[in-house]
Amino acid sequence: MKTNRRRFIKQTSLTAAGIGMFSAFPAIAYSRGFAPSDQINVALVGCRNMGFGVLKHHLENPEVNCVAMCDIDEGVLNEKAKEVRTTFNQKPKLYKDFRKMLEQKDIDAVIIGTPDHWHCLMTVYALQAGKNVYVEKPMANTIAECDIMVNAANYYKKTVQVGQQQRSSFIFNKAMDLIKSGEIGALRKINMWANFEYGIGPEIVPDGPVPAGVDYDMWLGPAQKRPFNQNRFHGSWRHFWDYGGGLVSDWGVHLLDMGLWAKDIKSAPEKSLVYAANTYPEKRARETFDTMAVSFPHQDVVITYDVTAGLQRGPWDMLYGIAFIGNNATIVTDRSKLTVYPEWDNSAKKFRAEEYIFDKGQESHGEHVRNFLDCIKSGEKPACPPEVGRAAAMHVHAANIAGRVGEPLLLWDEGSKKFTNSQTANALIKPEYRSPWTLPNY
Ligand SMILES: NC(=O)c1ccc[n+]([C@@H]2O[C@H](COP(=O)([O-])OP(=O)(O)OC[C@H]3O[C@@H](n4cnc5c(N)ncnc54)[C@H](O)[C@@H]3O)[C@@H](O)[C@H]2O)c1
Repeated sequence: MKTNRRRFIKQTSLTAAGIGMFSAFPAIAYSRGFAPSDQINVALVGCRNMGFGVLKHHLENPEVNCVAMCDIDEGVLNEKAKEVRTTFNQKPKLYKDFRKMLEQKDIDAVIIGTPDHWHCLMTVYALQAGKNVYVEKPMANTIAECDIMVNAANYYKKTVQVGQQQRSSFIFNKAMDLIKSGEIGALRKINMWANFEYGIGPEIVPDGPVPAGVDYDMWLGPAQKRPFNQNRFHGSWRHFWDYGGGLVSDWGVHLLDMGLWAKDIKSAPEKSLVYAANTYPEKRARETFDTMAVSFPHQDVVITYDVTAGLQRGPWDMLYGIAFIGNNATIVTDRSKLTVYPEWDNSAKKFRAEEYIFDKGQESHGEHVRNFLDCIKSGEKPACPPEVGRAAAMHVHAANIAGRVGEPLLLWDEGSKKFTNSQTANALIKPEYRSPWTLPNY
């Protein structure tokens, strides 16, 4: 392969100014009665893993206080609250019921780090209580819940940031600049893939007693009642339809979001062509798919998404990633590296684009949180507002639904918000909430 290494760029650290170069964030107007130095009081619900990580990123900002924390698992709640006290010198009030927490008047923003089946209810309740919301991805576990959240966020006019933090990363902002400036020519295909070991689920274990200090009924919430099984609980709930969408949605919303951003697509896929199966030889605790090949033909580009759970290698020797394929060059990215592979023009005897490599990328939760805080103060739209979260979630939900109902092609109509060729698929648009929980009406 021919190569010209005119531009091999390695940056050692990402600065706010560096990100600003790629126009990710608007200038801050502070138009909501907030001054730049004003304090923001945050509360966390769902403290074990990602939620706590996001809380810590909030507390890295000098104007943030943690005034409340909530979890249905007493052990998790006490351990994480202790860390907040010792590391950040903060003394949050502790709750097991998020509805009680939302009555606390001094909370400005709520971070939702619970499993996906709770995202819609908690977001709506928080908005009703007048709070801003940082809700983890995928935005919701069903199509109907995504729409409710978009409508509720518009109705209450609060800042809602969905935790698709790649929107705030240097690497992906750089990729978008290269694509949108025409550097790689007409974008023809966007191929993405995710192959992770954890996607096959844990080893099967029998049902058991509810662990001490856990309010299991409150963990289930609107999901159907079932005996306790550790495989359906902390961390591994994501392999069961009642609470999550498997590896396909866990990574899919992050990756598909980048494909949609590249073409400024803000709607659900009109067509989803789907192969979905469970083919991993060993039986594991999982309902969701371990093997999937999905194609979303959009107007002038095709987006493909490939999942092979249990494997640790993939295209371009990357276990997950995206290839943006243009006429002049292909950009290959993950969260740590972006490479531009230019095409050779045989008649002009030169490359059609400049080679570019950036290999010092890092996680961008901190930048995404900073953007959330700035938008609370300014009233500007955050980097990942609900309609952006919805578009990405709609792609993975359509793919998962196609697999579940055995339809290789699903057609969606944004006007009626229904699939036009499958009633069985339409039956999966709305979740059935377990009493006393009811699906909000927005
Ligand atoms: N943005 C990212 O890169 C990223 C990475 C990992 C996970 N996530 C998302 O973060 C969310 C949480 O995932 P996780 O891996 O941290 O899950 P987890 O199971 O480790 O943690 C969830 C926590 O929520 C608590 N919880 C459940 N129901 C509750 C309720 N009703 N009230 C209070 N607390 C409740 C649980 O007890 C647990 O402590 C998911 O939506 C996941 O998709 C995002």
